[in-house]
Amino acid sequence: MTKSEMIYEGKGKKMWSVAEDSDLLIAEFKDDLTAFNAEKRGSESGKGALNNKISTAIFKLLKEKGIQTALVETLSDTEQLVKKCKIIPLEVVVRNIATGSLSKRLGIKEGTVLPFTLVEFYYKDDALGDPLVNDEHCLMMDLVKSENDLDRLKHLGREINSILFSFFANKGLKLVDFKIEFGVDKDGNILLADEISPDSCRFWDAKTNEKMDKDRFRQDLGNVKMAYEEVLRRILSE
Ligand code: TMP
Ligand code: ASP
Repeated sequence: MTKSEMIYEGKGKKMWSVAEDSDLLIAEFKDDLTAFNAEKRGSESGKGALNNKISTAIFKLLKEKGIQTALVETLSDTEQLVKKCKIIPLEVVVRNIATGSLSKRLGIKEGTVLPFTLVEFYYKDDALGDPLVNDEHCLMMDLVKSENDLDRLKHLGREINSILFSFFANKGLKLVDFKIEFGVDKDGNILLADEISPDSCRFWDAKTNEKMDKDRFRQDLGNVKMAYEEVLRRILSE
C-alpha cells in the first residue's frame, strides 16, 4: 500500500489516501501529545507506535466479539490500514467512574463509582471546544440521521464498555472512562473508527489507583511513556 496524499492531520494522527484503493486510508500515529483543546502540547518519542499497538489489539478483540470496526491491518510500527468512512462528528464518551470533566461540571467526587454506565455525546468542533450535546442537539444539527442512530451509538458504547471493562479488569486495570468515534462506510454501516488508546481512555491500576493514561501528561505526573508501555504489556500478557 502506498501513501498518496495527506487528507487530514489531527492531534494524534495523520490520515493518508492510498494509491491502490480509494476505499482505504492509512492512519499514521503521531508522537504528539495535546490536552485541553491543544492549549497544552508535548511529544513523547515512541508514543505513536505504542498507541498503534494498543489500539490494534483492542480493535481486534472487539472485532472477535462482533463489533464492526474500520481497522483492516497493521502496516508498520506507526501505521495502520483502515476503511474509509464518514466520521460522525460526535465524541461518544462512556464513563464508569467519575473524574475529569464530569466531576468538574457536576461536582461528583473523583473516584465515585457511577450507579450505571453513563454515555455522553460531545460535538466534535475544536473552535467550540467540543461541547457536551444532548440527543435533541444532535438531531437539530443533523449530526446523526435519526434517533435510531443515536440509540445505536449508545448501545455500541455500552457494549464496547462491557467487553473492555472485563478485559481490563483481568489485566489489573480499571477502565474509568473512554472516548470513541464512529464512521459510516459506503454501504451505510456504522463502524468503530479512530483509536482506543491511553490518549482516549482513562485506566487506573486496580490495586493502587495509579493513573496509567494521558492524565499523566495533562496533570504533569511524569512517566507518560512508561505508563503506556505498561498498558501495552498488560494487554499482551496472558
Ligand atoms: P473528560 O472527563 O475530559 O470529558 O474525558 C472523558 C474521556 O474522554 C477520557 O477518557 C478522555 C477522553 N477524551 C478524549 O479522548 N478526547 C478529548 O478531547 C476529551 C476532552 C476527552
Ligand atoms: N482535549 C483532549 C484531551 O485532553 C486533547 C486536546 O483537545 O488537545 O484529551
